[in-house]
Amino acid sequence: MHSYYRMVCLSPEGDTQGSESFYQPNMAFMILFLLLLCLSFILNTTNAQPRNSIIRPGSSLSPNNNSYWLSESGQFAFGFYRYGNGFSVGIWFEKIQQKTVVWTANRDDPPFSRDVTLLLSTEGRLIVQPKQGQEILIASASQLASSASMLDSGNFVLFNSSSAIIWQTFDFPTDTILPGKRLLPGQSLVSDVSETNHTRGKFLLVMQTDGNLVQYPLDSIEREAAYWNTETAGAGDNVTLNLDSNGTLYLLNATALLVKNITEKASVSGKPIYRATIDADGIFRLYSHSFNPFDNWSIQWSSSENKCDPKGFCGVNSYCTLMDRDPVCQCPPGFNFIDQGQKDLGCHKNYNVDACTRKSEQMFDFYELTSVIWEDDAYSSLSSVAKDACREECFRDCNCEAAVYQIENQSCKKLKLPLRFGERELSGQVITLLKIGAALARGGERKQRELRVDFLIISIALACLTLAFTVIVAVGVLKYRSRVREYKRVLNVGNNGVVEDVTLRSFTFDELKGASNNFVDEIGKGAYGTVFRGVISNDKRIVAIKRLEKVVAEGERNFRNEMKAIGKTHHKNLVQLLGYCYDGTNRLLVYEYMRNGSLADFLFKSNLKVNWEGRIAIILNIARGIFYLHEECETQIIHCDIKPENILMDDKGSAKIADFGLAKLLMPNQTKTYTGIRGTRGYVAPEWHRNLPITVKADVYSFGIMLFEIICCRRSVEADVPEDEAVLAHWVYDCFKANELEKLVQNEEVEMSKLERMVKVGLWCTQDEPSSRPSMKKVILMLEGTVNIPDPPLLSSFVSSP
Ligand SMILES: *[C@@H]1O[C@H](CO)[C@@H](O)[C@H](O)[C@H]1NC(C)=O
Ligand SMILES: *[C@@H]1O[C@H](CO)[C@@H](O)[C@H](O)[C@H]1NC(C)=O
Ligand SMILES: *[C@@H]1O[C@H](CO)[C@@H](O)[C@H](O)[C@H]1NC(C)=O
Ligand SMILES: *[C@@H]1O[C@H](CO)[C@@H](O)[C@H](O)[C@H]1NC(C)=O
Ligand SMILES: *[C@@H]1O[C@H](CO)[C@@H](O)[C@H](O)[C@H]1NC(C)=O
Ligand SMILES: *[C@@H]1O[C@H](CO)[C@@H](O)[C@H](O)[C@H]1NC(C)=O
Ligand SMILES: *[C@@H]1O[C@H](CO)[C@@H](O)[C@H](O)[C@H]1NC(C)=O
Ligand SMILES: *[C@@H]1O[C@H](CO)[C@@H](O)[C@H](O)[C@H]1NC(C)=O
Ligand SMILES: *[C@@H]1O[C@H](CO)[C@@H](O)[C@H](O)[C@H]1NC(C)=O
Repeated sequence: MHSYYRMVCLSPEGDTQGSESFYQPNMAFMILFLLLLCLSFILNTTNAQPRNSIIRPGSSLSPNNNSYWLSESGQFAFGFYRYGNGFSVGIWFEKIQQKTVVWTANRDDPPFSRDVTLLLSTEGRLIVQPKQGQEILIASASQLASSASMLDSGNFVLFNSSSAIIWQTFDFPTDTILPGKRLLPGQSLVSDVSETNHTRGKFLLVMQTDGNLVQYPLDSIEREAAYWNTETAGAGDNVTLNLDSNGTLYLLNATALLVKNITEKASVSGKPIYRATIDADGIFRLYSHSFNPFDNWSIQWSSSENKCDPKGFCGVNSYCTLMDRDPVCQCPPGFNFIDQGQKDLGCHKNYNVDACTRKSEQMFDFYELTSVIWEDDAYSSLSSVAKDACREECFRDCNCEAAVYQIENQSCKKLKLPLRFGERELSGQVITLLKIGAALARGGERKQRELRVDFLIISIALACLTLAFTVIVAVGVLKYRSRVREYKRVLNVGNNGVVEDVTLRSFTFDELKGASNNFVDEIGKGAYGTVFRGVISNDKRIVAIKRLEKVVAEGERNFRNEMKAIGKTHHKNLVQLLGYCYDGTNRLLVYEYMRNGSLADFLFKSNLKVNWEGRIAIILNIARGIFYLHEECETQIIHCDIKPENILMDDKGSAKIADFGLAKLLMPNQTKTYTGIRGTRGYVAPEWHRNLPITVKADVYSFGIMLFEIICCRRSVEADVPEDEAVLAHWVYDCFKANELEKLVQNEEVEMSKLERMVKVGLWCTQDEPSSRPSMKKVILMLEGTVNIPDPPLLSSFVSSP
C-alpha cells in the first residue's frame, strides 16, 4: 500500500495541493486508484491465461535449468522430468509432492541426456534437440503449430494460427486418463513396466468398438485372454469411457446416454482431484488426492482385488500365487525360471526332448501339480476317465506335453507347451500332469543305484566274498556305466539347438563390395533395400547381400543388438542371417542364399504353379515360422510385413520367412508403434489405421490375407477381374457365405473339407478386431486339424467380445 500512496503523492496535482486539503483529494485519488487497480487486476487475470500459459515458437526448456511450462492454475507441468539416469519429456501434477507422471512422450525410448533442449521451433514443430545428431519429434501434428499451451485439464495442446487444436496429448494417452479426457472407441491405455519405468509394460485397457471396455495382456489380445470387462458388448459402436471431476467413471453411448456407471460418485471430503490409471500390475484403479501436504494418492476403486487376476502377470509355464496379498510367480516341478532375476518372465523345462521326432516313449515320465489352473487351450479333451487313464492318454500321444485333470467331473484335457495364465486355485479339484524327460524324473532312482553299487563294493572288501560274487558286481558296474552313457546321450540330444552358439560374422564394406562384385547382380528389391547375389571368398558360399536403405543411424550398439536378436533365431522356416556390416554410413545384411526366389513368383507366375498339397504345406511352413517369431524366440519379433514377396523358397520347396526383425530399424515416426505404418497396402491390419497398439495380431491378419492368396493363386487385390472378385478377402467371404467355395479353386482337384478348413482359418485371421483373431499357436492347431474350427462370424464388422 505504501508505494501506491507515494505514487499518489507524487502526482502533479498532489504537488500543488496545500497541506490542509492534502487528505481529501488524495483519498479520492486513492479510491480511484484502487478501483483502477481492481480493474487492472481483473483484466490481468483474464489476460494472464494467454500470457502465462501460451507458449510461442522459439520457446525452449532444458533439463539443466529445471524449467517447465505450467498450466494456468499451476496444477500441471509440461517439461523434462528425471527418468533412469537421464530425462524424459512428460506431464505431471506439479502441486503434488509425490511425482506423478500422467503422460510421457515416446515412452519406449531411452532417457535423454542432460544437454538436450525441448523446443517449439519457429517453424512450428515440437522437438527435442540433442547437442549433436538428429532431432526427435515430440508431436506429430499434421499442420505446423503457431502456439502451444499446457491446459488446466492436464492436456498439452498445439494450436494452428486460427487457434484450432491440431495436436493434443489427450489423443495419445499412455496409462492414465484425467477428468475431461474420454477414451474413444479404439483408444487404449497401456500399463508401465514398473512404477519408475514408463516404458510400455504388459497390460492393455481398450475401449472396443463393440462397446465393451476390456483388459488384456498386451501380447495376447484375444478373447480368451481378457481378464476384466464391463460386460457392455453390443451397447453401440461409439461408446466412450469418461471420468468426471467428481470421480465417477462411466460409459456413454453415441447419443450421450449412460451405458453404465463403473464407479459411483466418490465420497472424498474437500476438493480432491482424480486420475484413473492401468497400473504396472495390470489392475485399473481410480485414485484421488486431496492436496493435503501429508496425503498420498488413495485408491477409490480397483478393477480387481486379486493381484493374480491379470492374465500373463507371470510368464509362460509359470503360475501366480498370492502370498500375503502380493502376487508371486512360481515354476512347476521340472521347470526352471528363464531368468532368476526376473521371475515374471516365465519358466522353461529344464530338459527338452521332442517326443514326436524321437519315438522312444520310455523316456518320459510325469510330474503332478495340484490346484493350478491354466488357460483352457486344450487341443483335445476326454470326459469320464480316471486320472491314470488321463496320464496314459497323454503318455501315448507324442503331441501331448501336459494334461489337466478335473477330479469332480473326471475330464482330461491334453495341451501343448507353453502353458499360459497359470493361477493357483483353492478347490484342489485340478491336477496338472506334466510330461517330463525320464532322465529327470528318474534322477532319484539313479542315485539309489549309485548307493547300491557303493554298498556292494564295501561288502566285498569287508567280507571277501567269492569270485562269482565279484563278477556279478563287475557286471553291475558295467551296466551302470552304460546307463550313464545313455543318459549323457539323451542330454546331448535335448540340448541340441537350444544352446547353439550364435556366431554372426561382421563384414567390412569392402569385403561385401568384393563379394558382390561391386553390387552388380541384383536379385530383388524390398521395403528395406536392394538385394544382391554374392560369394563369400573364404568358403565359396553363395549368399544374398541386402543393402539397407531408409534405416536410421541410431548408433552402432543398437544396430548390433538388433542383429544379435535376429542372429539368435534358428528355425527351418526362417531365412538365416549369416552376418552384417556396419561401416560408415553403410548397413548391409548377409543371408543364406535362396535360389528358388520368392513365393510371389511361385504363386503369380503361371509357369511355376505349385499343386494343392504343396500349397497347403507352404501355408503350414509359414505358420510355423511366424509362431516361432511370436512365441518361441528369445525376444518376441513382430514381422510387420508378411506378404508373398517376403517368403522365400528353398531347394526342397519349403517356405522360409525373410526380412523379420527389420521393422524396428526403419525411420522411427514419433509415436513409433502407433502411427508409423510399416506394412504393405493390402496386407496391413486395420489397427495400423486406428491408433491401436500393434501386436502379433497384425501379423496374423497379414498371414490370413496371404493364406487366401496361396489358396487361390492370385493377388489380394486385382483389377482385371469382375468387380465383386477384385478384393480377394471379400470374394472369399462371399463364396463362403454362399457355400460356393469351389469357385475359388477352379480347374483344380482339391479336397473340399480341407479347402473349407483353410478358408475358415483365413476368415478368423482377418477379423477386424485384433482380439478376435487367433494366436499363431491356435492357427497351427486349426490348420493341422487338431482342433475344431468354429464358424467365423458372418459379418466382418461383427466384433466378438468376452
Ligand atoms: C532454460 O534453458 C533454456 C534453453 O537453454 C532457455 O531457453 C530458457 O530460457 C531457460 N529458462 C530459464 C528459466 O532459465
Ligand atoms: C525400462 O524397462 C525397459 C524394459 O524392461 C528397459 O529396456 C529399460 O532399460 C528400462 N528403462 C529404465 C530407465 O530403467
Ligand atoms: C486450423 O485448423 C483447422 C482445423 O483443422 C482448420 O479448419 C483451419 O483452416 C486451420 N487454420 C489455418 C490457418 O490453417
Ligand atoms: C459434481 O457434484 C456436484 C455436487 O454434487 C455437482 O453439482 C456437479 O454437477 C458434479 N459435477 C459433475 C461433472 O458431475
Ligand atoms: C444409447 O443408449 C440409450 C439407452 O440405453 C438407447 O436408447 C439409445 O438407442 C443408445 N444410442 C445408440 C446410438 O446406441
Ligand atoms: C461418437 O460420440 C461422440 C460423443 O459421444 C461424438 O463426439 C463423436 O463424433 C461420435 N463419433 C462417431 C464416429 O459417431
Ligand atoms: C451414475 O453415477 C451418477 C454420478 O454418481 C449418478 O448421478 C447416477 O444416478 C448413476 N446412475 C446409475 C444408473 O447408477
Ligand atoms: C505413496 O504411495 C506410494 C504407492 O502407493 C508409495 O510408494 C509412496 O512411498 C507413498 N508416498 C508417501 C509420501 O507416503
Ligand atoms: C469339468 O468341470 C470344469 C470346471 O468345473 C469345466 O470347466 C469343464 O468344462 C467340465 N468338463 C466337462 C467335460 O464337463
